[in-house]
Amino acid sequence: DGARAHYRERIAAQLKARNAVLVAHYYTDPEIQALAEATGGCVADSLEMARFGKNHPATTLIVAGVRFMGETAKILSPEKWVFMPTLEATCSLDIGCPADVFSDFCDQHPERTVVVYANTSAAVKARADWVVTSSIAVELIDHLDRQGEKILWAPDRHLGNYVRERTGADVLCWDGECIVHDEFKAKGILELKALHPEAAVLVHPESPASVVEIADVVGSTSQLISAAQQLDNPSFIVATDRGIFYKMQQLMPGKTFMAAPTAGNGATCRSCANCPWMAMNGLENTLAVLEDANGCGQEIHVDPEIARQALVPLDRMLAFGA
Ligand code: 13P
Ligand code: SF4
Repeated sequence: DGARAHYRERIAAQLKARNAVLVAHYYTDPEIQALAEATGGCVADSLEMARFGKNHPATTLIVAGVRFMGETAKILSPEKWVFMPTLEATCSLDIGCPADVFSDFCDQHPERTVVVYANTSAAVKARADWVVTSSIAVELIDHLDRQGEKILWAPDRHLGNYVRERTGADVLCWDGECIVHDEFKAKGILELKALHPEAAVLVHPESPASVVEIADVVGSTSQLISAAQQLDNPSFIVATDRGIFYKMQQLMPGKTFMAAPTAGNGATCRSCANCPWMAMNGLENTLAVLEDANGCGQEIHVDPEIARQALVPLDRMLAFGA
């Protein structure tokens, strides 16, 4: 309606005036994704967001996603101002892997190569040999395994188990989980599939093994979108955050996308396939940050020494995924 359009216009004007660009994740609200596209920003998976932010000539990045994405953007572009609509947007994987406890865990296994998922704090990345996102996790672990390396993986145990399963590598796993993907249930997906036998099952690898096992395709958000474009199936059961439906429906208006069932009914599931932290990114707080001279205090700062250390495994990630 008119009020929303007014927000969009003011944000677009501010982005231009401040030489800023909006970098959004597929899980953010469709309003944010549409605005990022309309203003020359990007909507992407976490690896592509990191690349886009680093390569874009804007002097200010507005990262609509969760905290680790803002930190990664800042570490890769220390000369840019990086803001988020709210710094409170975190991730259960990041919360479940405190840097000091993680560092002790690494100290106990000095013989292992430390590979951490992008969904971690800058301080955890600073302790790692490699950072990966879901789009390149299997390839990287396979590469390290072929070199005879033993892996210490953190923090997502489902993704860690999945890469171990796929590659046969020796992977010691931290015990973390994503509260969104952990809720998907194989039983519910199979029941839905029985009603829609023509549907292909698309699964993000942060989901439990029982769900990954019944998938037709397992991959990062971008990989799931491409798979839906390539497959001939008229419909899909999708086990990832429902924010992804915006892009899927936009690219494939003739296909049907169904949310994979979660653990409970609406009353008991923790997230109901919608990340509560991604949902914190809205038009209102995006505009507020852009209009305030100090960005409402939502600027990303990373300790320079931590940033220097974290840049090493992040650069390796970008080079490996190139
Ligand atoms: P992608 O790298 O697939 O975008 O995943 C990021 C994320 O937070 C998944 O929950
Ligand atoms: Fe973290 Fe899960 Fe939210 Fe992704 S969906 S940001 S992994 S809590």
